[in-house]
Amino acid sequence: MEFPFLIGEQVYLRPLQLDDAVLLTEWMNDSRVTRTLRPRGPVTVQEEREWIETRTRGPQNLACAIVRRRDERMIGTAGFHGIDWQARSAEFGISIGVPAMWGRGYGTEVARLLLAHAFRTMNLHRVWLRAHADNLGGRRSYEKAGYRLEGVQRDAVYREGVYKDMVLMAVLRPEWERANRPTSRPAPLRRPRTASRAGTPAGGRVRGRGPRAARPAASARPRRAH
Ligand SMILES: CC(C)(COP(=O)(O)OP(=O)(O)OC[C@H]1O[C@@H](n2cnc3c(N)ncnc32)[C@H](O)[C@@H]1OP(=O)(O)O)[C@@H](O)C(=O)NCCC(=O)NCCS
Repeated sequence: MEFPFLIGEQVYLRPLQLDDAVLLTEWMNDSRVTRTLRPRGPVTVQEEREWIETRTRGPQNLACAIVRRRDERMIGTAGFHGIDWQARSAEFGISIGVPAMWGRGYGTEVARLLLAHAFRTMNLHRVWLRAHADNLGGRRSYEKAGYRLEGVQRDAVYREGVYKDMVLMAVLRPEWERANRPTSRPAPLRRPRTASRAGTPAGGRVRGRGPRAARPAASARPRRAH
């Protein structure tokens, strides 16, 4: 892995770099990829370099390349922009530029990785996104990561000869925390056996089986919020 920033099971995120511009130019001129993105004309390598420079600069932006772990292939970009450090909110954006890579769970994993980073490291309160209402694969992946539908913007974009609705989706930190509580439960408390029955010293507890041992394992405890 090269410069891994957030690591998932199937993909990892690394910083987006100027060298990625050529790949992005290929994707941003592919109508299969751009039909559910903000409309842009034919895109040049220079424009993609400028986009990368903008999206990787300043405290309002966090931009990453999505890399498949299996073969180190860069398959897309994802990140936050418009980060508002007072309202503690940010807009999420993602694009997997290789259509053959859609529907394999990569988008959901990236959305989950970035939400965990937003809430546990950046200390954000709200993460939101806008998507074409008919981008059903995208909407499904966002829902699985925890986003909820907030509203519909009617006839908000004009694509392929028709006006289309956009949906607003968002996650608030408290609801994300509730949904991502550790699932493992502490072992039930056991009544310490009496010394006579268990053969332990009077009043003593069997080491490792009393209430102390009944606490959740370290990995099962909620992680400290930063
Ligand atoms: C949107 C995008 C990021 C989603 O990533 P992805 O890796 O394809 O998403 P995942 O595979 O994790 O999840 C997609 C889910 O939608 C489901 N899905 C796919 N097409 C669907 C459809 N037409 N109707 C209903 N569900 C659909 C998949 O089955 C999957 O759900 P499941 O895992 O429960 O079966 C990716 O398709 C993409 O980059 N598209 C082009 C650019 C884009 O639209 N960017 C987002 C702009 S908001």
